[in-house]
Amino acid sequence: MTRVKLLKRSKMQNLSYPIVRMRRNRQAKFIRNLVQENHITANDLIYPVFVLDGTNTKEDILSMPGQSRLSIDLLLDVLDEAVKLGLQGVGIFPVIKDNKDNLATECYNPHGLVPRVIKAIKTKFPDLGIFTDIALDPYTIHGQDGIIDENGYVLNDITNEVLVKQALCHASAGADYVCPSDMMDGRIGLIREALEAHGYHNVGIMSYAAKYASKYYGPFRDAVGSAGNLGKADKFNYQMHPANGDEAIREIVLDIAEGADILMVKPGLPYLDIVYRVKEASKMPVAVYHVSGEYAMLKAASQNGWLDYDNTLMETMLSFKRAGADIIWTYSAVEILRLLK
Ligand code: PBG
Repeated sequence: MTRVKLLKRSKMQNLSYPIVRMRRNRQAKFIRNLVQENHITANDLIYPVFVLDGTNTKEDILSMPGQSRLSIDLLLDVLDEAVKLGLQGVGIFPVIKDNKDNLATECYNPHGLVPRVIKAIKTKFPDLGIFTDIALDPYTIHGQDGIIDENGYVLNDITNEVLVKQALCHASAGADYVCPSDMMDGRIGLIREALEAHGYHNVGIMSYAAKYASKYYGPFRDAVGSAGNLGKADKFNYQMHPANGDEAIREIVLDIAEGADILMVKPGLPYLDIVYRVKEASKMPVAVYHVSGEYAMLKAASQNGWLDYDNTLMETMLSFKRAGADIIWTYSAVEILRLLK
């Protein structure tokens, strides 16, 4: 036998059973812990919250058990526990009851709900990162993320003008990152330009770069109260088609060029391949959004006794990290922080 053949055979033998037994490194907790590749820590999480006007007001969200729309005072109490447990970031979603119109003018009112929430959180928790949603859906009568024409089509460039005003409004109130979730073309560049022009050099942009037109957003639309406004309309002419993967790469390339600091993929679990591809292609910080429908499914199954909530939740979080996410937006953030303690 030639040397090469011998080498091949011995290599083969060494690399197979019984010399190799994969279960050795799984035999006991200590070694499983030592070889664990991915971990969830408090430093991975952003907690999305729903806030409304008033005081001492709490409205439970039926399709998101455990989550509520809270007035600012009650929100601060919830955040108090979360910050003590190590929460790094909060995502703000306003529930606008009155003040909706066709042009979403309330979204850049300097005395509006979001600027007041930002200031209240910054005052009480100066080290907590504040991430605000940039999109018009809480403010429009029709529930679309932008300004529509007479056929209901969302107009890109006019919408961008309003998104820029909204981003500047949040920045001036003290937001750390503005997070455009609207999927208009060109908005990242326009927002970056405006932030620079107004001296907000350190206000970052976390772009919902690859955001899909997903049915998993259902409970969120109940939570912010846009479901009824949207009615039977959909968001297919701006959010991405769930069938597409390459298109996500085109989206992120554009957002990087326009000045995004962090990229987001949304939803999470059904789009893990996109999380992986976006991380591989960009080498940027990548966030993933474990969205309302994903949260609702896990809650519903566990409330029926069909899934173990805590462990299924942590497995889901690990899958995000394994796929390449650096940051996870999840309604389960406070529960995870408690589990980590
Ligand atoms: C709105 C927005 C949505 C979510 C975040 N920002 C809903 C939508 O696009 O219809 C979804 C979040 C979730 O489902 O948890 N621009």
